[in-house]
Amino acid sequence: MTFPTGFWWGAATASYQIEGGVTEGGRGRSIWDTFAADGGKVLGGATGDVACDHYHRYREDIGLLAGLGLNAYRFSVAWPRVMPDGRTTCAAGLAFYDQLVDELLRRDVVPVLTLYHWDLPQALQDAGGWPERDTAARFADYATVVHDALGDRVGQWTTINEPFCAAFLGYGSGVHAPGIQDKDTALVAAHHLLLAHGLATRALTAQARPGHEFSLALNFAPAIPDGDSPAHAEAARKFDGIHNRFFLDPVLGKGYPPDVMADVEHHGGRFAAAVRDGDTDVIAAAIDWLGVNYYAPARVTPLDDPLGPGNCPLPGLRGLDVLPAPPPLTAFGWEQAPGTLTDLLRRLDAQTGGLPLVVAENGASFVDKVVDGRVRDTERTAYFADHLRAVHDAIRAGVDVRGYFAWSLLDNFEWAMGYTQRFGLVHVDFETQVRTVKDSGRYLGRVAKANALVD
Ligand code: NOJ
Repeated sequence: MTFPTGFWWGAATASYQIEGGVTEGGRGRSIWDTFAADGGKVLGGATGDVACDHYHRYREDIGLLAGLGLNAYRFSVAWPRVMPDGRTTCAAGLAFYDQLVDELLRRDVVPVLTLYHWDLPQALQDAGGWPERDTAARFADYATVVHDALGDRVGQWTTINEPFCAAFLGYGSGVHAPGIQDKDTALVAAHHLLLAHGLATRALTAQARPGHEFSLALNFAPAIPDGDSPAHAEAARKFDGIHNRFFLDPVLGKGYPPDVMADVEHHGGRFAAAVRDGDTDVIAAAIDWLGVNYYAPARVTPLDDPLGPGNCPLPGLRGLDVLPAPPPLTAFGWEQAPGTLTDLLRRLDAQTGGLPLVVAENGASFVDKVVDGRVRDTERTAYFADHLRAVHDAIRAGVDVRGYFAWSLLDNFEWAMGYTQRFGLVHVDFETQVRTVKDSGRYLGRVAKANALVD
């Protein structure tokens, strides 16, 4: 059960979820500061004002990651630290990431940098946000600034994390910042996020140093039809279309899938008008690997009325319901289906023509307790073991998987759920900021050091 030589064994985080220090180093406001400050949007009225206080404790946190034996760290840069108003560079903001990167390299940890994990500068939202085309151009400028500053030491560049969530949860269902509820607007936002990915990838590729690699991370939810009728297959096609292929196909140079375009037609013409000549070529900018964020599949079933709204608030999803997941569930209520990860990796291998894949996020929230200085999170350890076996199965089947990043290094601010969902390899007491490595963290560390599945 060994893994390929040089396999990345890492953990992932995101700036707003861990950093805190929201008014320090000249940082500007992000849409998540505004959204969380609203009080009614995030469970318990929680905010990322302090979060894991990683802004002040990053040395300790990297020490924990390296101490476990992990060799890679996927983190994101906060755009409003680097450009408080979305346009002007702030040296103090860049300095934070400069020090973070140096610390990672000092510990022999590969930095895998994500440029956008949802914390859009509020000033750019005030100017229209992702539904505004100019935001994509601003993103390419920002990407260039970060690349200029860190490209001498950072080789791995991921543009955007989960454009699905940024667009559809931020501008469609409104459960994420900036909290807009308009499906038509959400589709336009999705296009501009993909455009931003393409523009930034082009810009950075043009000035890349040897060894620099570019990627983006998509969240895949494989659709499992809850029956074998043609109507079930159609429901699964629709779900897979808007959730997965709508983002993957244009990145791979296949353009937007025609069946999905037909599904979303009833949202009116704004999306079609937003897609200008040449955009699909930009979005198809060559990437070196695809980040695969996988947590759980979706069980789908057709409605009697093919035009019925169903229970899923995403654009285009008429005529189907997403069913409650069967047990065993995580604390979030998500299904545990490791075999689906093998299937997904094999399918992506076929669809991408063998593009290298990296599991950029995988993990589970459970209720954790520190007892006598220890967190015995056996369920999470089993979750990792099962999913790592699934990754190994895919590799054995010939899929080029280059790495695995656990979500997350630390318990952290879980967006609309506040601090109620713990995903960390390391437990964080949010009152005291005391860190306690969980048993699952030690387990993943043992696997990383052996580069093989061990007990
Ligand atoms: C995906 C997101 O990238 C991350 O920010 C989030 O915390 C995890 N999923 C868990 O929901």
